[in-house]
Amino acid sequence: MIAYFYIKLKSLKDIRTFPFTLYVYKEKENLYTEYLKANTPLTQDSYNLLKYIEDNKTGKIAIKLSQRMTYLATVGELSEYTPQEANQIREKINILKEHEKAVETNQKEARTRLPLRSVLTKAIDQDDFLPIILRAQKEISTFPVNLSHTISLARHFAMTHLDKDNLTNRIVALSFFFAKKLGIEDYKKQADLICASFLANIGLTSISPNIMHESFEEVTSDQREQYYKHVKVSRMLIEKSGVQLSEECKAIIDHHHEKHDGSGMPGQISQAGLSLESEILEFISHILEFSTGLINGEKSPLSSVVYMVDAQAGVGGLNTNYSDKIKPHITSVLSL
Ligand SMILES: [Fe+2]
Repeated sequence: MIAYFYIKLKSLKDIRTFPFTLYVYKEKENLYTEYLKANTPLTQDSYNLLKYIEDNKTGKIAIKLSQRMTYLATVGELSEYTPQEANQIREKINILKEHEKAVETNQKEARTRLPLRSVLTKAIDQDDFLPIILRAQKEISTFPVNLSHTISLARHFAMTHLDKDNLTNRIVALSFFFAKKLGIEDYKKQADLICASFLANIGLTSISPNIMHESFEEVTSDQREQYYKHVKVSRMLIEKSGVQLSEECKAIIDHHHEKHDGSGMPGQISQAGLSLESEILEFISHILEFSTGLINGEKSPLSSVVYMVDAQAGVGGLNTNYSDKIKPHITSVLSL
């Protein structure tokens, strides 16, 4: 999605060649169409057609937001802004330019790249998830800017952190693609899940390394309780850092070890209090943690773990207890 702003034809005064491209927005079709490329003279016929569109309200004349500075400078309105305002506009425009570039690169690559399913199969086979993590980074970097703080933060996290293969990035990437597979298309919900996936386990930094490095099956119930304290610690660290998150995102973090039947930790929240996003994060984190050997000390290919969960295999430490929102779709995590 590229951001635009609308102008009135008269704001162009008698300028007939300008360094920005004109678009026409048709509300009925919700479509922006390129009308006149930058540096192409606006002929009288083209001008008349725009005037007709404007007078009859059949469309709006639009310019990409990233060209706002150029537009203001061209029509002589830049001097109306204080240097501070001009700097703020310039800053926003730089973000928008970066965003537009990401959208264009993503669209270009989408035409030639391998289907996601093949990338995932290869990632599991070679135990190298970087290609799928980078795919997630590309998609998240095209999220709209300035819609909400959490959406901007998801985009920022993706651009600054989703460039290496580690457990957190695997969880972020697979949670994101699995959520899309389950029909979550709303940027806001996706961003809530992405930010929660990045931040849910930061409280683990305060957990004793003895608990972290032991096989999960061998830890005592006291150690287990200590382990689950990381959920509250994560939230406390987030509060202290001053990072602004939506209430939904905070709830996903709070619930990322809860179970639909109320048997989860630390709050034993039942299904009624759980969002699909928090169940997704719990499921994806669990299968990845199990696969990397964090739960029973044995590494297994992700596909084997998924099939075991689906078959409700009674394997020690493996959670097969999922709600009807997840259960029918368990194996589809392998065919994103
Ligand atoms: Fe956790």
